[in-house]
Amino acid sequence: MVNKATRKTDNMIGKDLWNIQLDNNGNLKHLLTIEGLSTEMLTSILDTAETFAGVNESVKKVPLLRGKTIVNLFFEASTRTRTTFELAAKRLSADVLNINISTSATSKGESLLDTLRNLEAMQCDMFIVRHESSGTAHFIANHVAPHISVLNAGDGRHAHPTQALLDMFTIRRNKGADFGKLRVAIVGDLLHSRVARSQIHALNILNTGEIRVVAPKTLLPKDIEQMGVSVYHDIQSGIKDADVVIMLRLQKERMQGALLPSEQEYFQLYGLTEERLKAAKPDAIVMHPGPINRGVEIDSTVADGPQSVILNQVTYGIAVRMAVMSMTLGSHSTSDDKQRKSS
Ligand code: CP
Repeated sequence: MVNKATRKTDNMIGKDLWNIQLDNNGNLKHLLTIEGLSTEMLTSILDTAETFAGVNESVKKVPLLRGKTIVNLFFEASTRTRTTFELAAKRLSADVLNINISTSATSKGESLLDTLRNLEAMQCDMFIVRHESSGTAHFIANHVAPHISVLNAGDGRHAHPTQALLDMFTIRRNKGADFGKLRVAIVGDLLHSRVARSQIHALNILNTGEIRVVAPKTLLPKDIEQMGVSVYHDIQSGIKDADVVIMLRLQKERMQGALLPSEQEYFQLYGLTEERLKAAKPDAIVMHPGPINRGVEIDSTVADGPQSVILNQVTYGIAVRMAVMSMTLGSHSTSDDKQRKSS
């Protein structure tokens, strides 16, 4: 197990970036990154999601965000994140606008800020933003009106906080709330993965017993060891006795230059097969944020096998996003509302 004292704590990382997430009362106003969240806040999000998981299984709709308008602004492709945010908003009774970026006025040269100003003029309450550039969600949060919440749905290589939260929810549902007992292995393209960065922050905040990363040197960020993880280049030893194995997609769209010989060779060295999975604990769960590349990072027999919880992750994404939306919009003070009414 890694010495927890050697881990860089969240309080030491990028404080200027994450401190705008909380309002003056310490409530969640935006969700831009996992960094800087307290264990109590993260646990509170997961607990709230647990109550919404019950809603999703039975009544399907609650009136918590009736009258609120939520805007999906996805400048990058998405299946799971965009649709589960939309479903989450609808199950909270909010109105949802899905802006089609390719047919919006941004294609005529309208700037991001002007687009936001126009959406603000339509009395929107929340922007959910995915963008290829790291820091876009922070930029937007710094420029919107006080009553608006911004949720980061993935920015460049930086962060994908709701994905990490739904992954923690999935682990907690399958392995219990004591993360200190767990050995978690994250395997694959960590260099380009905003999901992995957010997962590592979340696992550290929840005091996970051991966090391992498994990848070729070319697919690991230089600062990875400072994040309190142990590094492996061999998958068999990297997933040995793991309780949780998280596979990552090769992010070819973000790769510059030849970081890999070929997908076939990558699969031979790092692909998760039934045979390799035997090195993990017999009751280990296999996770993947999706989209999966079958035969590249994971074999179909594992992706569709008894230890896979990949589709459960998708389902839990709705409850987790309901929790984040209700907590952020619920944090707005009366003065914010007054400011909106007078603006
Ligand atoms: N996990 C994830 O972000 O998937 P999408 O790209 O489909 O949203």
